[in-house]
Amino acid sequence: MSETVMELKHINKFFGSTQVIHDVNFKVQKGDFVTLLGPSGCGKTTILRMIAGFYEPDSGEIHLAGRQIERVPPYARNTAMVFQEYALFPHMTVFENVAYGLRVRHTEDSVVKKKVGEALELMQLLGMEDRYPNQMSGGQQQRVAVARALVMQPDVLLLDEPLSNLDAKLRESVRVELRSIQQKMGLTTIYVTHDQQEALSMSDSVIVLQKGFLRQQGKPHEIYFAPRTPFVADFIGTTNLIKVNGDDALLVGYDEDTVLQADAVCPKGEHTLSIRPESIRLSEKPSPSATDNIMPVTVVRSMFLGEKMRYFVQDRKGQEWIADIFDPGRKIYEGEVYMLFAADRTHVIEEDD
Ligand SMILES: Nc1ncnc2c1ncn2[C@@H]1O[C@H](COP(=O)(O)OP(=O)(O)OP(=O)(O)O)[C@@H](O)[C@H]1O
Ligand SMILES: [Mg+2]
Repeated sequence: MSETVMELKHINKFFGSTQVIHDVNFKVQKGDFVTLLGPSGCGKTTILRMIAGFYEPDSGEIHLAGRQIERVPPYARNTAMVFQEYALFPHMTVFENVAYGLRVRHTEDSVVKKKVGEALELMQLLGMEDRYPNQMSGGQQQRVAVARALVMQPDVLLLDEPLSNLDAKLRESVRVELRSIQQKMGLTTIYVTHDQQEALSMSDSVIVLQKGFLRQQGKPHEIYFAPRTPFVADFIGTTNLIKVNGDDALLVGYDEDTVLQADAVCPKGEHTLSIRPESIRLSEKPSPSATDNIMPVTVVRSMFLGEKMRYFVQDRKGQEWIADIFDPGRKIYEGEVYMLFAADRTHVIEEDD
């Protein structure tokens, strides 16, 4: 059974006269890995800092482990935060950096030694106890920063883009490591990133933010295949956003000759569909199944990307679509072809931006 360990209720935050967080509400289940995702400046760090206690919300409530904490000072909350700029103490060794929080809590020496040892082992830093931060690579320093947070066994671990300074390969491996440690420890984690891949691959739940508004919270596949706004659809990967005329039915009007079958009833009026490029197939002959949408299109250009061929095609209305054909081999579509996509991949977007 899931259990809510943290909740934000109607959180608003101003800097001066500018409102940067607008009525944000979300819940976090115990042991979950939750990602805050959104473009630069959307308010991710601000939300994390309010949870940690470094900023106070102007209004709203934050509940953590059965306590209301939005006015509680940072040291009196059981949170641990890894900052975007990971901020190790330069004059302290790795061991003392990791031990810092425990020392502040007057933890007994033998316990400090044991806990720091465990955290260093988890982050694969054993043998580096006596080094100083400037004697380590950026990636190692980021792992020290994570160890320093883990050792506190917080009610919630707050990570602000902790892998930003790693190269692509190392980032991938630390990502896997971090996720497995988090799961092993059952540690509730809020993770900030603006990398969609990272959010989709690591999270139990993803929260998408835009300009200080929470646009959607859901499981990775829900956010990906059932985005609630065009912004969410477009921010999580590439998609085709297509304007249609709804009529309170599963069938929606696209142009004079075409109706499309959608994945849900589309209300009356103008709405947007989202169809992912990888959900589209191309064919030289019109051979749809009963659940396929089909449309004649013209190939405008194509791009070979290794694992797939990306086609830019144009329909009779002049609308351009992207279609990704995986494992393309030597087959290249040209000229007039048919585009097919399943009704359950033809997603009606509920709201407009
Ligand atoms: N201390 C501050 N004083 C005034 N404005 C601030 C302050 N901190 C952040 N802001 C503004 O609040 C908004 C949200 O900033 P925040 O740092 O939360 O964004 P972010 O989503 O973490 O972005 P990034 O991905 O670039 O780290 C931005 O417009 C930013 O300029
Ligand atoms: Mg930030």
